[in-house]
Amino acid sequence: MGPLEKVPCLVSIVLFVLLFSSPKPASASASSEEANALLKWKASLQSANNSLLTSWTLPPRNGSGSSASVPCHCFSFFSFPNLAYMDFCINQLSGSIPPQIGSLSKLVYLDLSTNQFSGNIPPEIGLLTNLRTLHLHTNQLNGSIPQEISQLKSLSELALCTNRLSGPIPASLGNLINLTSLYLYENQLSGSIPPEIGNLANLVLLYMDHNNLTGPIPSTFVNLNRLNMLKLSVNQLSGSIPQELGNLKSLTHLDLTKNQLNGTIPASLGNLSKLETLFLCDNQLSGTIPTEFGNLKNLLILAMDVNQFSGHLPEICQGGKLKNFTVHNNQLTGPIPKSLRDCKSLVRVRLEGNQFTGSISEAFGVYPNLYYLDLSRNNFHGEISKNWSSCPQLQTLLMAGNNITGRIPPELGDSPQLQRLNLSSNHLIGEIPKELGKLNSLLELYLADNQHSGSIPTELGSLTKLQKLDLSKNRLSGPIAAGNLENCMQLINLNLSSNNFSQDIPDQLSKLPQLSTLDLSQNSLSGEIPSQFTSFQEFGLHVDISYNELEGPIPSSKAFMNASIEALQGNKHLCGNVTGLQPCKNHDAENKKTSRHNRTLILVIVLPLSGALLLLGAIAGLVIALDRRKKKAEKGSSDEDLFSISIYNDRAMYNDILKATNNFDPIYCIGKGGYGTVYKAKLSSIKMAAANMVAVKKLHPSTARDDRQGFLNEVRALTEIRHRNIVKLFGFCSRAQHSMLVYEYLERGSLATILSRDEEAQQLDWPKRVNIVKGVAHALSYMHHDCTPPIVHRDVSSRNVLIDKEYEPRVSDFGTAKLLKLDSSNWSALAGTYGYVAPEFAYTMKVTEKCDVYSFGVLALEVIKGRHPGDFVSSLSTPAVENMQLKDVMDQRLLPPSPPEEEVIMCIIKMAIACLHANPQSRPTMQIVSQLLSPRTE
Ligand SMILES: *[C@@H]1O[C@H](CO)[C@@H](O)[C@H](O)[C@H]1NC(C)=O
Ligand SMILES: *[C@@H]1O[C@H](CO)[C@@H](O)[C@H](O)[C@H]1NC(C)=O
Ligand SMILES: *[C@@H]1O[C@H](CO)[C@@H](O)[C@H](O)[C@H]1NC(C)=O
Ligand SMILES: *[C@@H]1O[C@H](CO)[C@@H](O)[C@H](O)[C@H]1NC(C)=O
Ligand SMILES: *[C@@H]1O[C@H](CO)[C@@H](O)[C@H](O)[C@H]1NC(C)=O
Ligand SMILES: *[C@@H]1O[C@H](CO)[C@@H](O)[C@H](O)[C@H]1NC(C)=O
Repeated sequence: MGPLEKVPCLVSIVLFVLLFSSPKPASASASSEEANALLKWKASLQSANNSLLTSWTLPPRNGSGSSASVPCHCFSFFSFPNLAYMDFCINQLSGSIPPQIGSLSKLVYLDLSTNQFSGNIPPEIGLLTNLRTLHLHTNQLNGSIPQEISQLKSLSELALCTNRLSGPIPASLGNLINLTSLYLYENQLSGSIPPEIGNLANLVLLYMDHNNLTGPIPSTFVNLNRLNMLKLSVNQLSGSIPQELGNLKSLTHLDLTKNQLNGTIPASLGNLSKLETLFLCDNQLSGTIPTEFGNLKNLLILAMDVNQFSGHLPEICQGGKLKNFTVHNNQLTGPIPKSLRDCKSLVRVRLEGNQFTGSISEAFGVYPNLYYLDLSRNNFHGEISKNWSSCPQLQTLLMAGNNITGRIPPELGDSPQLQRLNLSSNHLIGEIPKELGKLNSLLELYLADNQHSGSIPTELGSLTKLQKLDLSKNRLSGPIAAGNLENCMQLINLNLSSNNFSQDIPDQLSKLPQLSTLDLSQNSLSGEIPSQFTSFQEFGLHVDISYNELEGPIPSSKAFMNASIEALQGNKHLCGNVTGLQPCKNHDAENKKTSRHNRTLILVIVLPLSGALLLLGAIAGLVIALDRRKKKAEKGSSDEDLFSISIYNDRAMYNDILKATNNFDPIYCIGKGGYGTVYKAKLSSIKMAAANMVAVKKLHPSTARDDRQGFLNEVRALTEIRHRNIVKLFGFCSRAQHSMLVYEYLERGSLATILSRDEEAQQLDWPKRVNIVKGVAHALSYMHHDCTPPIVHRDVSSRNVLIDKEYEPRVSDFGTAKLLKLDSSNWSALAGTYGYVAPEFAYTMKVTEKCDVYSFGVLALEVIKGRHPGDFVSSLSTPAVENMQLKDVMDQRLLPPSPPEEEVIMCIIKMAIACLHANPQSRPTMQIVSQLLSPRTE
C-alpha cells in the first residue's frame, strides 16, 4: 500500500545515539554510558528467554522454535536522554506503546511500524517535539489520534496508516506546517476532512483512503500546490469535486474512487497537466467528461467507471501514453474518438455497459500491448475485424450484447494467446469457424444467442484448456458428438441449450472430469441417456436435459436422481424414481393392461363413442348444486385498469428492465420456455403492476424477427385481452439485442412447479384445485368464443397456468398463440408441449380450438391426479370399459375429499375424459365446459 513500502526498515532492532544538541555540554562518558546501556539491552534481546516484564514481548519468529521476549524493564527510557533515532520496525512487538516513550525527548526519528502494538497512541508522544519522522503504521492501534501530535511542529512525515484508529482527524494537524507526507489510510477515521489540512502547504503525499470519512472535499486544498499524490478513495465523501483541485499543478496521482461524490467533473481538472493516474470510479458523478481532459497528455490510467457520465467521449489519448482506460457502466454515447482508436499504448480498456455507437471494425485499430478489451453491452454494429489477431497480447476480448453482424472472421483463430472470447447476444450468422480450434490458450468461449448454424466444428475438440463453452440459443444442428468435446478435459460449464442438436447425448461427455453444469435443454436429442452417465462424477453436477426427445430410464447417478423435474421435463418418455417422472416399468410387467384387471371397481367410466355431450349435460345439474362459491365477474374485470395498453419499443421500459434484471442476469431468471427465458423484474421508473413487479419473457433471437409487423399486430391484440384468468400482457419491446414480452408477475409461479413440490401441492387442497380447473376453462372459453377472431392458445399445459396469491389460476404464455381467422385453416409448425398435444395434430398439423380442449382435458386430470396423467390418457383410447379406483386418479398427497368434493371431482374427471376424445368433433367446446362447471345463475 503506497510508497511507505519503500521506506527502508531494518529487520533487526537498530538504535542510534546521536550526540548533538544536548542542553548541557555532553560529556564523552555520558554518551558512552548510553551506548553501553544500549548494547547491553540489545544483547539481552538476543539471549533473553524468560521472566521478562512489561507488555513488550517478542513472540517466536515464524519458523524458529526458540522464543524470545523483549526485556522492556531493561530498556529504561530514562537512561537515554540523548537517543535520537529509534527504529523498531518489522518486529513482533505487542502490547501498548509505553507512555514513558515521552521521555526520549531528543528523538528525531521514531519508527514502531509493522509490529503488533495495540491500545491507544499515548498522548505523551506529543512531548517528542524534535521528531521529524513518526511511523506508527501497520499495527493494531485503536482509539483516536491524540491532539498532542499537533505539538510535533518539526514533523515532516507522519504515518498512522493501517491501524484501527477511529474518531475524527484532529483539525490541529493543520499546524504541522513542515509535514510533507501524511499517511492516514486504512483506519476507521470518521467525520469530515478538516479544512485546516489545506494549511499543510508543504504536503507532497496525502493519503486518507479506506476510512469512514464523510462530508465534502475541502476547497482549501487549493493551497496544496506541492501535492503529488491525493488519495481519498473508499470513504463516504459527498458533494461535488471542488474546482479548486484544478490548481494542484504538481498533482500526478488523484484517486477519489468509491465515495458518494456527485455533480459534474470541473473542467479545471484539465489543468492538471502532470497527472498520470486519475481514478473517479464508483461515485455518482454525472454530466459529460470535459473536453479539457484532452490536455492531460501524461495520463497513463484514466478510470471513471460506475458513474452516470453521459455524452460523447473527448479525445483522451492525445499524449499517446494512456494504458488503462475504463469507463464501463456509465451512460456514454457516440463514437469512439479518433485519439483513442489510434492509441497504441492501451493495455486495458473497458467500455462495457454504455451506449457507444459506430462500426466495430472502424472504431478500433491495432494495439501492440492491449491485453484486455471489453466492449459488451453497447450499440456497436458492423462486422468483427480481422485485425484483432494482430494484437499480439490480447487475452480477453468481450463484445457481447451489441448489434454485431456477419460472420466470425476465421483470422480470429490466429490469436494463440487469447483466453476469453465472448461474442454472445449479437446477430452473428454462419458456421462457427473451425479456425477457433487453433486458440489453444482459450479458457472461455461464449457464442450464445446468435444465429450460428451448422454443426459444432470438430476442431473445437483441440481446445484442451477450455473451461467454459456456451453455444446456447443458436441454430446449430447435427450431433453433439461432432464437436469432439470429450477432449476438452478442463470443461466446467457446457451449455448447448436451445439449438437444434439431434441424435444421442454422446456418452463421452460423461468422461469430462471437471464438468459441473451441463445444459442440453431445448434441442432435439433423442434416444436413451447413455448408461455411462451413471458413473458421472457425483459432486455438484447440474444437468438440464429438458425439452428434448429423450426416452428411457434416468441414469442412477446423483446428478440425475437429484435433478428437479424442470430439468427433465418435456421429453418423450423418460422414466425413473424422480418426483414428476413415471417410474420405469419392470420388463416383466410390459403388458400393463392385463395387470390392471384385478383392481376393485369403484369408478366405472363409460365412454360412449359419441355420447360425451349427453353425459356432460346430465352432470350439469349436479355441478350447479355443488357450486357454492360466490360467483365473480368472469371477464373484463375493469378494476385493474391501471396500465396503459401497449408499450411498443418504449425506451424507458426497455432500459428499466435491463437495469432491474442487471442485463438479464441469470439470478433473475424464473423460468425457461420454448420461445424465451423468463425473468422477474422490479421496475423503478414505470408504474405498471402491483409492486411494479413484472415477468419479462426475453425472446430467443429467432422468435420475433421475420414478419415483424404481423408479430406486432398479434401482440397488440393480446395486450387488449382482459380476463381474470388470463395473465395480463403489458406489452412488447424490442431494441438492439433484446426482444421481450412483459407480463404481469404472479408470485406463486406455475401450476407445474406447485404440483411437483410435495409441500406446495399439499397446500393446493381440493376446493382450490376445482377452482383452478374452472378458471382455466373460463379463460379458454373466453379466448375461443368471446374474442374476434378467436384465439387458440396451442400450448395449454400446467407450465402455462400460473397461480396468483389467492390461488386463482391465470393462463399464460401466448408465445405460441396465433390469431385464428374464423374461416381459414391455420397450418403451423409443430407447437405445444409433449403430453398435452391432441393426437390429430400430429397428422393434420391443423390448429383448432379442439386442440386446446384436448390439452385442457389432460390438464384437468393432472390437477386432480397431482401429476401428468401419462398412460391413463392413452388407455382411454380403448373404447372398452376401464376399471379403476378413483384413488388411482387422485393425488395421494391430499386427504381424501369430502363426499360433496368427491362428486365435483368425479364430474371434472368425466368432463376431462370427454375432452380427451380421439375425435376432435366429439369433444365439447370450452364454452360448454365452462358453463357446465360454473353455470350462470341468472
Ligand atoms: C521546518 O522546516 C524548515 C526547513 O527545513 C526549517 O528551517 C524549520 O526550522 C522547520 N520548522 C520547524 C518547526 O521545525
Ligand atoms: C465504517 O463504515 C462501515 C461501512 O459503512 C461500517 O460498517 C463501520 O461500522 C464503520 N466503522 C466505524 C468505526 O464507524
Ligand atoms: C449531491 O448530493 C448532495 C447530498 O450529498 C445533494 O444535496 C445534492 O443535491 C446533490 N447534487 C447533485 C447535483 O446531485
Ligand atoms: C492496468 O492494466 C493492466 C493490464 O491489464 C493491469 O494489470 C493493471 O492492474 C491495470 N491497472 C489498473 C489500476 O487498473
Ligand atoms: C426411490 O427413491 C427414494 C428416495 O430416494 C427411495 O427411498 C426409494 O427406495 C426409491 N425407490 C425405488 C423403487 O428405487
Ligand atoms: C442493428 O444493425 C442493423 C444493420 O446495421 C440495423 O439495421 C439496425 O437498426 C440495428 N439495430 C439497432 C437496435 O441498433
